[in-house]
Amino acid sequence: MTGEDHRHRRPDDDRPPAKGLLDDLPETGRGAGGAPRPAAARPNPFHVPQKRPAGGSRPNVIPFRGAGFDRTAAAPAAEPDPAPEPAAQPRTESAATEAAAPEAAAEPAAPEQPGAPAAAAERAGGAARRPAARESRPAAPAAPEYPPPAPAAAPVAAPASAQAAPARPAAPEYPPPAARPAAPAPADAPEAPEPAAQAPADTGDAAPAAERRTPTPTPSEDGSPVNAHAAAAQPEHPDHGPDAAAAEAAPAPEPAEPAEPAETSGRPGGGAAAAEHAYGEAERAAVYRAIRDRRDVRVGFRADPVPDDVLTRVLDAAHRAPSVGYSQPWDFIVVHDEDLRSRVHELVRVQRDEYARALPGARAQAFSGLKVEAILDTPVNVVVTVDPTRGGRHTLGRHAQPRTPGYSAALAVENLWLAARSEGLGVGWVSFFDERELARALDLPPHLEVVAYLCVGYVEDFPPEPELAMSGWARRRPLSWAVHRDHYGRRGLPGEDATSLLDETVGAITPLNQRALKEAEERQAAMTKPAGSLGVLEEVSVRLAGLAGECPPPVPEPAAVAVFAGDHGVHAQGVSGWPQEVTAQMVHNFLRGGAVVNAFAEQVGAEVTVVDVGVAADLPAVPGLLPRKIAHGTADFTQGPAMTRTQADYAVEAGIEAARDLVSAGNRCLITGDMGIGNTTPSAALIAAFTGADPAEVTGRGTGADDAMLERKIDVVRRALAANDIDTSDPVGVLAAVGGFEHAALTGFILGAAALRVPVLLDGVSAGAAAVVAAAIEPRALNACFAGHRSSEPGHAAALRHVGLRPLIDLEMRLGEGSGALLALPLLQGSVRALRDVATFGSAGVSERY
Ligand SMILES: Cc1cc2nc3c(=O)[nH]c(=O)nc-3n(C[C@H](O)[C@H](O)[C@H](O)COP(=O)(O)O)c2cc1C
Repeated sequence: MTGEDHRHRRPDDDRPPAKGLLDDLPETGRGAGGAPRPAAARPNPFHVPQKRPAGGSRPNVIPFRGAGFDRTAAAPAAEPDPAPEPAAQPRTESAATEAAAPEAAAEPAAPEQPGAPAAAAERAGGAARRPAARESRPAAPAAPEYPPPAPAAAPVAAPASAQAAPARPAAPEYPPPAARPAAPAPADAPEAPEPAAQAPADTGDAAPAAERRTPTPTPSEDGSPVNAHAAAAQPEHPDHGPDAAAAEAAPAPEPAEPAEPAETSGRPGGGAAAAEHAYGEAERAAVYRAIRDRRDVRVGFRADPVPDDVLTRVLDAAHRAPSVGYSQPWDFIVVHDEDLRSRVHELVRVQRDEYARALPGARAQAFSGLKVEAILDTPVNVVVTVDPTRGGRHTLGRHAQPRTPGYSAALAVENLWLAARSEGLGVGWVSFFDERELARALDLPPHLEVVAYLCVGYVEDFPPEPELAMSGWARRRPLSWAVHRDHYGRRGLPGEDATSLLDETVGAITPLNQRALKEAEERQAAMTKPAGSLGVLEEVSVRLAGLAGECPPPVPEPAAVAVFAGDHGVHAQGVSGWPQEVTAQMVHNFLRGGAVVNAFAEQVGAEVTVVDVGVAADLPAVPGLLPRKIAHGTADFTQGPAMTRTQADYAVEAGIEAARDLVSAGNRCLITGDMGIGNTTPSAALIAAFTGADPAEVTGRGTGADDAMLERKIDVVRRALAANDIDTSDPVGVLAAVGGFEHAALTGFILGAAALRVPVLLDGVSAGAAAVVAAAIEPRALNACFAGHRSSEPGHAAALRHVGLRPLIDLEMRLGEGSGALLALPLLQGSVRALRDVATFGSAGVSERY
């Protein structure tokens, strides 16, 4: 990182204000339907020019391809010290990743300035040697602006040496209200709220017209950060719904909308060639309109039959689809027969019930309100099949890509769908059946497969947006998430500067919404309860409102816990009493539903996803496991960096992508989980590096280390910090030096959640370490963070103190996996329900206190 680093950007920077990455998306009404912007006039709202450290450029490689990034290829050349024999440790603790420590150990003494590192290893990724910067280590982040740094009543008492403590992550745009009990003013006093012109999305104020970058604001842009939550909770389309008029009247904000393509109007681009061959304006508009307006329809069908000539036209459109080697591998079965349709309907019911049983609580409830087929409600069904053998032995193109017949048949479906839309016919695709059972019902010969079962008929209306988006089940991914330039991972729409996922994400992290914060505070004061009587939960609800940009904010459900799993080369130093293979074994356990994280997730209705970012074993492809392996474990960081710069970048990106996936899948709260035998050691190293605490203060007993092992761990952390080039002004570099893959991914996960303005509930010490790193990258990321609990691992308390987060519960847990955070989820949800549901003194006719 350099002087242009985003961490040094101040509010008066001229970077385009960016909102949450899902803001203004035309998904559920809030952001939909606006006049599209000319591509040329739209700057990339997420692009933050930033130099990468030397050696950090992205190579021409595809990430997550295992071997190329394995530590065997990336490990530093230095010969490792002979590893001490791991002490035989009685396995009285569960195979977890956090540690117990005596309570006294949780209160560190004044941070001691550790000595400068000895021969710092050159980063294996080729990064330039950095100056020995241990002195600069403590000069780290700055505190989150809300809530104010924990007062004395917080579970974690402020260290006596608070003055000497390293600076906390900064970015306080939310000044503590004057009415609150005066908290001691921290050294890093909150900044004033950002001027409206800087961040209109967060103030509700309109940007001066001269500053607007596009002339035509979207009707739905009302000046508040329209976020994924709000969008999901607001099914009305702005063109149709009750908010349309209000939205139109609202002041126009800075159009920092995510990338959308240009409207089809005016002359085609491309000069003379296009002018010669392009359709006329109206025809092009019709093509794009059919694409945009095509909808999967499941409700509101009319009984009118589909005339034969219309159905034939639509089938002819399907039959004109492109196909591999012109093999035309499809067939169409037109189904009118009532009995047959009833049998198919029954097949769907069985699958639907099975699917519903497998869903976590909050999802199951949402699913119960969804219709997934219209088999009996439509006058005709069309089955599209594929013959993967059609075209003979030498079908052109299929020899190298055996799946291309299926792709071809899917294109036939799309042609049918678009043609049907232009005819005013609704189409609903059903895939809830066992394919072979359906094939039997249709008398398909065994070499044919069912590609699509389509319910077709005239409809009362077409939904303005995908029904799954309107119901909040899932959200639309912006186009910019899907477009890469030259190599996977270089983001940017055509004509825009390519940027990295990390830069794009950090650029989208913006302050809390002042208007929503104020509204929530006023509502808390007006609720039928004594002021302040909900304690910390009041602050929680207010911050959730600021994050969501509305009051009350959406209840943070459904929630998903992502358990990032990785192994650690430092395990060879004898820092855990558990063998390394337990990481992979526990991953299997998570996937089978047999771990504590599963039990607690079930209890609170959350979904469990396991992300393999670096397990030292090959894991099978099973549902629930995201294969994002960067290497089979990190290198031993007592001998040099744990990972290359590129590996660290990829791990951070894996975390951001996981956050994006879970949020676009409809989750409104993300929960951190981790699994990695030995990972309390890199946690301690990261926390020591960023807080400046002595390793002895922040290193704990992990999964049950005895005194000798604890001493060894402390020594290992010390040696790691000495053996590596630690420069906290380059947080990803520190991750690469002494972190783990799961820490890097968790850092990305936190940043990704913050960019999407979705709360992220932090679990134990690994998440605490990641929060410290995330705050060093972008302090505002802490606005989205809620500390689920306080682990008994001493480094966790230090990390939370450093970032100014107050744990919601303290049950002396030290399991990891996401367990503590899951237990805290109902607290987050309860705080919002109270804000939303409790009557005010005025509305309930209850007298207020004298
Ligand atoms: C391969 C495929 C299978 C689908 N299966 C179902 C299904 O079983 N039930 C259902 O309600 N929708 C199904 N859909 C429809 C999608 O839910 C729908 O396309 C998506 O939500 C986007 O909405 P839109 O098509 O209106 O843009 C399927 C779509 C595809 C492409």
